[in-house]
Amino acid sequence: MTKKNLKPKIIVVSDVQQLAEAGADLFEKAVADAVKDRGRAAAALSGGSTPRAMNRLLAGPPYVDRIPWKGLHLFWVDDRMVAVDDPASNFGAARDDFISRVPIPAQQVHPMPVLDAPIRGAERYALELKNYFGSKAPVFDLILLGIGSDGHTASLFPHQAEAHQGPEWVLSARGGNPDVYRLTLNYPVLNRARTTAFLVSGRDKAEMVRTLLCGDEVRYPPQRIRPEGGRLVWLLDRPAATLLPEDMCSMGE
Ligand code: 6PG
Repeated sequence: MTKKNLKPKIIVVSDVQQLAEAGADLFEKAVADAVKDRGRAAAALSGGSTPRAMNRLLAGPPYVDRIPWKGLHLFWVDDRMVAVDDPASNFGAARDDFISRVPIPAQQVHPMPVLDAPIRGAERYALELKNYFGSKAPVFDLILLGIGSDGHTASLFPHQAEAHQGPEWVLSARGGNPDVYRLTLNYPVLNRARTTAFLVSGRDKAEMVRTLLCGDEVRYPPQRIRPEGGRLVWLLDRPAATLLPEDMCSMGE
């Protein structure tokens, strides 16, 4: 039976704090369900500023006590090819915001090899995925994504397909802010997770959110995120959702 693309669930919450809490709740549930059902969980994190408030919540009660850290493997959706202590490092930010303060075994944290040459780094991370998932295309339990106001997600930038190179599952790219080389998961991986959630905050993203969710034509990478058989959730704060039709959204608490 072919897997169908489920319609996205759009949840709007009042503000950045509620967005962080909604993201942390979703993270906890996806990870706890996976560990209960399959004995382990694999989650892939995006970087940028939006997820940082959520990540910091994970390091404190109730999340730090309820998430089954010993069964969790953390991967990255993308990262900039800079040193881990560079402020632009997605891994560095996640390490500071929660990983260094929760009981996840170090060998279960899988940062991207950002100090390699770009293509080599992409090949090495594809191997890391294969070591964990086996030779079938990776199926993450949770993939967390953001969007840029330019319509990128992960490090997949609009109108720059030619700039992305690498093996099928992981690509190297150049662009974004900062404009550096990056490694990014590719659509075959991003479209297979059991739960995929976009976290979007801020009025500066509202026009792009409307284009992505209401536009007819597929023009931007987030519109190509249609998980086969998985759950797709958009978690938006009210400023980011301000241009969406009311009947399109379910209001979070
Ligand atoms: C990256 C991120 C990227 C991010 C968006 C949103 O490495 O740049 O993974 O895809 O999700 O750029 O970033 P903000 O949350 O900072 O707006």
